Amino acid sequence: MAAPGSARHGGPSFLLGNLAAVVSPAGDGAPLRGGDLGRVDVLAPAAIAIVDGAVSAVGSAADLRAEHDGLDQVDGHGCIAIPGLVDCHTHPAFGGDRAGEFDLRAQGADYERIHAAGGGIAATVAATRLLGRAGLQAAVGRHLGWMAAHGTTTAEGKSGYGLDRDTELASLAAIAGSHPIEAAPTYLGAHSVPPEFGDGDEYLDFVLAQVLPAAAAVAEAADVFLERGAFSAEQAERYLRAAAGHGLALRIHGDQFTEAGAIELAIALGARSVDHLEATGPAGVQRLAASDVAGVLLPVAALYLRRSMPPARALIDRGAIVALATDFNPGSAYCESLPTVMNLACTQLGMSVGEALAATTVNAAWVLGRADRIGRLAPGYDADFVLLDAPDWRHIAYHLGGRDIAAVYKRGRVISPPRE
Ligand code: NIG
Ligand code: FE
Repeated sequence: MAAPGSARHGGPSFLLGNLAAVVSPAGDGAPLRGGDLGRVDVLAPAAIAIVDGAVSAVGSAADLRAEHDGLDQVDGHGCIAIPGLVDCHTHPAFGGDRAGEFDLRAQGADYERIHAAGGGIAATVAATRLLGRAGLQAAVGRHLGWMAAHGTTTAEGKSGYGLDRDTELASLAAIAGSHPIEAAPTYLGAHSVPPEFGDGDEYLDFVLAQVLPAAAAVAEAADVFLERGAFSAEQAERYLRAAAGHGLALRIHGDQFTEAGAIELAIALGARSVDHLEATGPAGVQRLAASDVAGVLLPVAALYLRRSMPPARALIDRGAIVALATDFNPGSAYCESLPTVMNLACTQLGMSVGEALAATTVNAAWVLGRADRIGRLAPGYDADFVLLDAPDWRHIAYHLGGRDIAAVYKRGRVISPPRE
């Protein structure tokens, strides 16, 4: 398996002064649970000393100037700095679009029926197979660039719209390539059974023998869609055990429409997360809360498919590890904006803005195995941060569809807006 994140490469050194505030999830551990999830540290006014692309100190401008007198000074223009956002569940490697399906669903068509009739995921698979390596690289680069413009500095990216050997490996290579943001590739080999295979077992025979060994050399994690119409719990277990044998971390798309054993399987296999959970009932909440498996909540998918929202409040209050993500994909969640997800967390999931921040920073970084290096704006972490031109840091969630992001920094370099 590929190492989670690259070693530090160095990067610029400077003192970013004149910040109205620096805001970061409190504490220094990960993951955050229960009452710890919503606590934030706010230092106002503030400055940040950045050395070799990492945060060396956060403090008052006067103190930092005295301690770092050789550093170039950069004006923060009164902005508020928050950590770079971490999107721990996205599907950026696809071709085509599903605007027509979106319109059909708007008029009452059903997502699962469209899928069963060979549309949905299968339509995107057909379009993705036509892209070729260069087309996939362009598509992934464009989609990750969209994410950066919304404050994302690290994103997980799944394959899963190729489902043949070449397109899956090209998808993973495109995600693992060089991008302004950091991208963590996940092999979603078990997303759907492609049309050239008779059933899921036959397809998994092919996946395990022909694709997984090469995919595991690039990917950090493996993922499966455990759901009626996709893969059963038995099939998911077979696929995930093989992936674990190759050293991959494990993820499961589970409890999206039905409870079909995803939480139990994730716990039994020590998976990092179960993602979706729109259908999870009280027993599943209890089980997940008592485990070290994260629940990754994807409220845009629930919104798009008119499902009930996942039980965020019950999960957090019972002590589960909760993260939030966009689920960016062309079918169920065509949205690359984590601030929009944070807004939905606050308006639909009953989460506070502090909880939404931790769920898109520290806990999302933990799901991606990077919480030692990203997810906080504090000494020792990479200099990944977002500057907000807003009177209060909570505008990141409060201002739905707003344009409060003045600049996005990855390892001390501006990645958005792009420089000429
Ligand atoms: O996470 N649920 C499975 N996969 C994606 C959607 C795939 C699609 O509709 O293209 C998801 O929602
Ligand atoms: Fe997904």
